Amino acid sequence: MLTVLGIETSCDETAAAVVRLDENGQGEILSNIIHSQISDHEAFGGVVPEIAARAHIAILDSLIKKAMTEAGLAYDDLSAIAATAGPGLIGGVIVGLMSAKAIAMAANKPLLAINHLEGHALTARLTNKVAFPYLLLLVSGGHTQFLLVKGMGDYERLGTTIDDAIGEAFDKTAKMLGLSYPGGPAVEKAAAQGDAKAYPLPRPLLDRPGLDMSFAGLKTAVRTAALKEEPVSDLVVNNLCASFQAAVADVIGQRSARAFALFQERFPQTPAKMVIAGGVAANNAIRSRLQEVAAAHNGELVAPPHKLCTDNAAMIAWAGIEQLRHQQAQNGTIPSENGVDDDMQVSPRPRWPLDQLSQSVFGSGKKGAKV
Ligand code: KG4
Ligand code: ZN
Repeated sequence: MLTVLGIETSCDETAAAVVRLDENGQGEILSNIIHSQISDHEAFGGVVPEIAARAHIAILDSLIKKAMTEAGLAYDDLSAIAATAGPGLIGGVIVGLMSAKAIAMAANKPLLAINHLEGHALTARLTNKVAFPYLLLLVSGGHTQFLLVKGMGDYERLGTTIDDAIGEAFDKTAKMLGLSYPGGPAVEKAAAQGDAKAYPLPRPLLDRPGLDMSFAGLKTAVRTAALKEEPVSDLVVNNLCASFQAAVADVIGQRSARAFALFQERFPQTPAKMVIAGGVAANNAIRSRLQEVAAAHNGELVAPPHKLCTDNAAMIAWAGIEQLRHQQAQNGTIPSENGVDDDMQVSPRPRWPLDQLSQSVFGSGKKGAKV
C-alpha cells in the first residue's frame, strides 16, 4: 500500500490532496482540496505571477492541513510527499516545493519532485485505468500539446502550439470582446447563441504537415474583425465567439485525426485512446469534435472528471504513486524514509519538457514558460 500527499502550486490553483494505492493496485483519492485564485486575477484578465505566488503562501499550509484531516491521516502514515517542481510560474512552484521539502524533512519522509505535465498525463490511469500506450491532448491556459504516453517516464511530444495556448486564446478573445475572465466558459456561452459561419476566420497551419498548432493569428483575426464592427453589439460578440470556437475546433479536430492515424501506425495492435486534460477540455464544441474524430478512427476519447482535468493536487500525488510503483518494479525498493535517493536536492524549474528530446519551442503557451 502506498499513500502520498500531493501539493500543486504551479499556476493559479493552490491545491493539496492525499491519494492511496491499495494492495489490489486500486487508486483512491482520500482528499482533494483546491483553492482557485480566479477572483485574485479577474481584474487583470489573466494570471499575475507575483499575486499568484503571494496567494499560494497565504493559503497553502491550511490547505495541506485540511487535506490531511479529511484523509484522516498523520504525516507518519504517508509513504512520501510529492510536489510540483515545474514547469510553471516560478514563484508559485517555489512555494509548493519548499513547503513539501519542509514537511518531508520534518516527518522524515521521501520527497518526490513531480513534473506538472506528468501529473496531467497520468491522471486517466487513476480515474479510467487507461493502460500504456495512449495519446494525450493537453489543452489549458498554459499548455497546448499532443503527447504519446508510452510508459512511466517515457513520453514523446508529437506536437505543440508554436505561440499561444488555446485557453489563452479563449481568454484573450473574451477580454477583447468585453467578456468575463476566465474567457473559455464566457466565449462558449456566447458562441452557443452565435453563427459559426458569420466570420471566415483563419485555420492557422492547417496546410502544414505534422501536429504543431498556432493560435496567435486567429486571435488577431478576431481583433481585426471586431474593430471593423465597432461599436460591437451582442450579436457581433456572439457571432465572433461562434466563429472563433469553430476555427479552434477545426484545428484541434484535424490535428487529432492526424494523432490517431500516427498512433495506429505506431501501435497497430493497440486500440487507440486519446485522453484529454486541461481546462479547455470542458468545452462542449471541442469535446464533441474530438469524439467524432475518435469514432472515425475506431478509437476512444477518454475524459477524466472535470475536477481532475484542471489543475489539482490529486494528479500530483498519483504521479508520485506511479513513480514509487515504477521504482519498486525496477529496483525492488522505494526511496527510504531517511531521504536516501529521493528528490530533496531538486530545484524548482520554470521550464521542464516531459519529452527531454523535444525541441524547445519559445513562446509556446502562456508566459512562454510551459513548453
Ligand atoms: O487547466 P486550467 O484550469 O488551468 C491552467 O491553464 O492552468 O485551464 C484554464 C483554461 C483557461 O484559459 C480557460 O479559459 C479555459 O481553460 N477554459 C475553457 C473552458 N473552460 C475553461 N476554454 C474553452 N471552453 C471552456 N468551456
Ligand atoms: Zn495544468
